[in-house]
Amino acid sequence: MTRTAPPDPRAARLRADPVFAALKGWAVAATGMSFLNARDDSVAAALLRRMEAGGFASPAQYLRCLESPEGEAEREALIGELTIGETYFFRFRAQWDAFADLVVPNILERNRALRRLHLWCAGCATGPEPYTAAILLHDLFGRRLKGWDLRILGSDLNRGFLEEAGRAVYSDWALRATPDEVRARCFDRSGRDWVLKPDYRRGVEFHRHNLVHDPFPPADGFSPDLILCRNVFIYFDTATNRAVVARFRDLLGDGGWLMVGHAETDVRLFDGFETVALKDTMLYRRTDRPTPRRPFARARGPARPVPCAPKGRPLLRPTVRQAGVPPRREGAATALVAPPSATAPAGAPPVPEPPAPVPDLPERYRAILELLAADALPEAARLSLDWLTEDVMTPWPHLALAAVFGHRGDSARCEKALRDALYLDRTLLLAHYELGCLLRPTDAAAARRSFRTVVGLSQRLPADGAVPGAPALTVAELSAAASLQLDRLGGAP
Ligand SMILES: C[S@@+](CC[C@H](N)C(=O)[O-])C[C@H]1O[C@@H](n2cnc3c(N)ncnc32)[C@H](O)[C@@H]1O
Repeated sequence: MTRTAPPDPRAARLRADPVFAALKGWAVAATGMSFLNARDDSVAAALLRRMEAGGFASPAQYLRCLESPEGEAEREALIGELTIGETYFFRFRAQWDAFADLVVPNILERNRALRRLHLWCAGCATGPEPYTAAILLHDLFGRRLKGWDLRILGSDLNRGFLEEAGRAVYSDWALRATPDEVRARCFDRSGRDWVLKPDYRRGVEFHRHNLVHDPFPPADGFSPDLILCRNVFIYFDTATNRAVVARFRDLLGDGGWLMVGHAETDVRLFDGFETVALKDTMLYRRTDRPTPRRPFARARGPARPVPCAPKGRPLLRPTVRQAGVPPRREGAATALVAPPSATAPAGAPPVPEPPAPVPDLPERYRAILELLAADALPEAARLSLDWLTEDVMTPWPHLALAAVFGHRGDSARCEKALRDALYLDRTLLLAHYELGCLLRPTDAAAARRSFRTVVGLSQRLPADGAVPGAPALTVAELSAAASLQLDRLGGAP
């Protein structure tokens, strides 16, 4: 589960250069992304790429360029290297359910006389978030919105992302959580890609806007009723987050809505907002009453699902590969998948009862995987530990912590967290597999037992079902991977 890249001597030299601190300071100040302070490797790699592309002779010469009036293009290019644009359509389904069930109906009601709906996706990367909103508004509320002043504004710091957003051409990967029916109805095929149809692009505009330095609102005459700013606060420090949230609050009218990422629910940031706790997500709403942060609504029963969501299967597939688990590659799946044999291999340990039908992946676990995918290790660790404090008796926070330790390369703690998860739920396929990978170098017999348990448990589950905790993998794929591991280990227990 360790992730060790061979050290790059050029990066080491750059990091040792006296100008490196100033270059990193420039990057943090320009983007507001103080998380870069703890990412010397990534910053050095980005600087090296740009310095090589521009033929700069030294770090000092490069810094002079960044600070000069003529350095605009280079500043943009470096920001392009530093920002992380992970995004996809229908990301965090629970929030889109809340959008369709609660937020939009509320705005339609409140703004009935004004006939205006303005929505801002701040930090929208390459555009799937504003376009998901456009699809839902068009399909679910199109008739009611006829004649309304509808604006969906996506903004980002990275100009390259916005140019991509304007083209609205996406790969399968960006549509991995999009139901087939929506894909077929809203997109046209173009070679291997998908182009969003004009009906769903209408009313969507993109603007370059830096949340930390630029004035609000991001465009003239724009007055948002809802702001989505998801998976952006993880890059800023608390003071910056507070300042941005305060400016969002000033811009929203009383009762205006704010949606942030799942990992960004530190309620202390949201002074002047009340929290709206739904079953699987939390929303914020500006209130001008003197009693902030009082929950005003709690969902009774499950929220009405977004009509396009397929039943019984989570829409979302985390983008992070679980360490130690082979990635799912298009076209490679068939080679990897071996049909499970009818009986367990000889000498297999007793297999626990098979799991109940695959549950929805807990949202918090998903949020932690998202943070790890974005390399935000401290935030992922904090979230896992907070969760464990609240909920020590379910396996998920232990599994989340195992992912954090695995990401950090701390094998001993990772093993303990996996064993704690398995103590609470013996049927967690993923934890058995991870444990097998972890033990393989030091204890082949124990690793074999773990992999055999995966194979044994898998035989009692639907082969094409998603693996709990790793829904990008099917049970058959994980079982085949475990069989492969057993082959490699060879020998008797
Ligand atoms: C991980 S993406 C989130 C995309 C989308 N909101 C989602 O959740 O799918 C974070 C985005 O924040 C943008 N960003 C980072 N710092 C920013 C800043 N100071 N102002 C505006 N956008 C910023 C990045 O360029 C990147 O596109």
